[in-house]
Parts: sequence; structure tokens; C-alpha cells
Amino acid sequence: MRLNLLIIDDDVNFLNTAKKILQYGFEVTTSKNGKNGIEAFQQYDFQIVLLDMKLPDISGLDVLRRIKEINPFTPVIIITEYPDFENAVQAMKLGADDYIQKDFNFDLLKSKIEKLLETRDLKVALKYLKTEAELIRNEFIYASEVMRKVKIEIERIANLDVDVLLTGETGVGKDLLAYEIHKLSPRRDKNFVMVNLAGIEPNLVDSELFGTVKGAFTDAVNRMGKFEYANGGTIYLPEISEIPQSTQIKLLEFLQYKKITRIGSNKDIRVDVRLIFATNSDLEKLLSAGKLRDDFFYRISVNKIHIPPLRERRDDIIPLAKYFISKYSSQYGIRREFKLNDELVKAMLSYSWPGNVRELENMIRSSIRDDVDELRLEHFPYLYERISRSSSIKPYKLAEAEFRENYFKNLYHQANGDINRASKLSGISSKYLRRILKSLGIVVK
Ligand SMILES: Nc1ncnc2c1ncn2[C@@H]1O[C@H](COP(=O)(O)OP(=O)(O)OP(=O)(O)O)[C@@H](O)[C@H]1O
Ligand SMILES: [Mg+2]
Repeated sequence: MRLNLLIIDDDVNFLNTAKKILQYGFEVTTSKNGKNGIEAFQQYDFQIVLLDMKLPDISGLDVLRRIKEINPFTPVIIITEYPDFENAVQAMKLGADDYIQKDFNFDLLKSKIEKLLETRDLKVALKYLKTEAELIRNEFIYASEVMRKVKIEIERIANLDVDVLLTGETGVGKDLLAYEIHKLSPRRDKNFVMVNLAGIEPNLVDSELFGTVKGAFTDAVNRMGKFEYANGGTIYLPEISEIPQSTQIKLLEFLQYKKITRIGSNKDIRVDVRLIFATNSDLEKLLSAGKLRDDFFYRISVNKIHIPPLRERRDDIIPLAKYFISKYSSQYGIRREFKLNDELVKAMLSYSWPGNVRELENMIRSSIRDDVDELRLEHFPYLYERISRSSSIKPYKLAEAEFRENYFKNLYHQANGDINRASKLSGISSKYLRRILKSLGIVVK
């Protein structure tokens, strides 16, 4: 992609020579005064500006200030005449990014521009680091067979560079997996931008995503949207039911042509972005409620990954619990490793976790403590209360295991540890009894 470069200088000779030299590497636009320069900058998407400080109409410093207001990330290089370093230094203090002498050579300017664009990317990345840090927080933990398959699917899709739809109840890990896909993909070094449309007024959604040009509506300024920020990287839209229908059309167009237009402009901007969508709603319901356009829905559900609720993958519960315990104990500066007692483990396994992993994480975050070696159910009043409320029906396997364990422990006590007596009482062969008792951790003499 050729970069768009704007030169603002009143020296026509210089403009002509510069244009001649620079056109080999850039799309060059020139402006003979400050006012036109600012206008051009507002209208088009320039990646770099060369600015003379002495202009006929307004001062170069004012132009610099305006440009930085319009887009703080666009690097501005001051053009200096040899004896005028002081002015250049002054401009650097006021926000210019670098300076170069009027008789520059092409390679020097090119290397300066490359460096500046790199730091610009860093600055843009930093702005989003907070969003990213929120997601980085957890490692992707799984042990169940279904999640192992999900993991394989995610690795496969990460490399395909296609758009993805993640479905699953609240708290199952859609945000985490969206980020995981980005990190496993060739786009990993570029931005991952999560755009939560729930927090944005519907009529501002398009400007947020696609950017605006001055005059698009009252108060509109030239501003980059999330698509341009995320260029080369990934945009994650965490709830498709929040996407207005008119925006769905624009997203479809983007998916087809890989181009966007800022609101109020008719200029196409080519952007290279992968889209990841998610929803915790039932897709059929969204369709029948008219929230999703059919064409949009069918387009984005080509690559769909469903993340099952935690209660359908109980093998993940204890590994997740242990991960959160160690995460929060180290975050709180608690020193030790904890044991989880049996009753607690059983309670965790039998609870239905309607809030899924988020609920488990929140519970552990709020209950972790420093004054015991072994964590017990009573240390988790939240869980205790819910378990006793809903304990009438447990998953059959769990109920069966509980019955079995109780039965054989009682039997062993009744028989005073005498295996033959226990065999008579229960009608189970003593050989088989020994095996069962041993599996329950009861040592038979
Ligand atoms: N497999 C996992 N390993 C570690 N942490 C997980 C896992 N799944 C989810 N979490 C954590 O649980 C919390 C909730 O997950 P996340 O925000 O991804 O849910 P979600 O599916 O996007 O929910 P919602 O639909 O409500 O937005 C996060 O802190 C996330 O890091
Ligand atoms: Mg989410």
C-alpha cells in the first residue's frame, strides 16, 4: 500500500522537486498555504505530513496544532531551512514528530518516515492496551473433551483468516477465545480491538466503526474509526444483537470488498481486518425477532464455534477453580497452596453454574482466604447456599458416586473392619469388596 503524504509549503520550487523525488515511494499531495493544507488534511486520509513553519497565511505552529487535533497519531515532520533549527526544535516541543532539512535526500526521509510510523503504531496499540490487558488476564484453561475439540477448532480457524462467530451462554469464555484466535493467528502482532456496541448510541455506531470526515454531521471532525485503528489486526464485536441493521449491511459490504468509507465521505479506504463476532443469545430467536438480517446472519455463521456451558463440561470445573485460586492468591499476596476438600469439590461439580466460568471466577475471587490450609465448602457461603437450595436433584453420576461411597463406608464401620462380615452383610464377595474399599481409600487389614 502506497502511503499518502501531504506537503504544506509556500515554496513552489521546493514543492515541485519534492514531489518529483517522493512520488517514487508515496502518493504526494501539496498545499501552498496553511489553510488549504488543513482542509486537505481534513478531507483525505494522510499517513504523514511535511510542514514548513513559515507560511503566508497562518503560522506553521497553528497548522501543526490543528493537524494534531484532527488526528493526534499522524506524524508531522517539520521542514527547516538550514539556519532555522531553533524554530524546528520549538515545533518539536509543541508536538511535531521530527524535522528534516529542505535539501533532504530521499532515503533519509524514507527511513525517518518508517520509524515514525512504527512509533505511531505503538501509540495506537498503547491506547488499546487497556482493553487488551483485560482480556489477557486469563490463560485459556480446559480439560474436558469438548473443550479440547474447541481448542483444535480455534487453532484451525485462527490460521484460516476467516471471520468467525462464537456462540455460547454468558460467561463461557467468548471474549477470551476471541482473543485466543487473534493471538494464534498471523495477525498476532497487530491490534486486537474489541468494540462493545452496547455502550454506544445506535446512531453513533457507524462513526465509531468507520470513522468520520468533517461536516458529516454537526460537530463531526475527521476521525479514524476502529477499522482503521485495527488495520492488519482483528476487530471483535462481542454481541451481534447490538449491531443495528444498517450497520449489518455495511459490515457485509466490508466482508465482501474489504473496503470501508468514513461517514460523510465517498472515498473508499482499503482495510485489512479480521472480524470476530459473538453472541450469548439464541440465534434462531435473534433471527425471528428481526434483530439480524438474514443475509448478515448466513454470511457470518459460516464459521461458527459453539462454547458449551460449564455444566456440560464438568471436567473443566476443578482445573479452572485451581487456576483461579492460584491466580487470586498470588494477586492478593497469599503465600500458600490450598487443598480442596472433597465436599467442596463435589459441591463445585454438582452446582449448575448458570453464570458459567465468570460465576466460578467471581466466587473464588471473593472467597479466597489466608487463614486455612484446606478450602472447604463452608468457606464458600455463596456456593453453599446455592447447593442447599438446589440439592434435591443432582446429576445422576454424582448422586450414584455419593451413594456408593456412603454405603461402603457405613458397611465397613458396621462390620468393624472385618471383611468377611462385611461380605456376609452385603452379599458381595470379599474379593470384590476389597477392591471397592481400596478404590475408596479404605485400607483393609
Ligand atoms: N477456559 C477458560 N479459562 C480461563 N478463564 C476463562 C475461561 N473461560 C472463561 N474464562 C474467564 O471467565 C470470565 C468470563 O469470560 P468471557 O468474558 O470471555 O465470557 P463471555 O462468553 O464473553 O460472556 P458474555 O456473553 O457475558 O460477554 C473472564 O474473566 C474469562 O477470562
Ligand atoms: Mg463477552
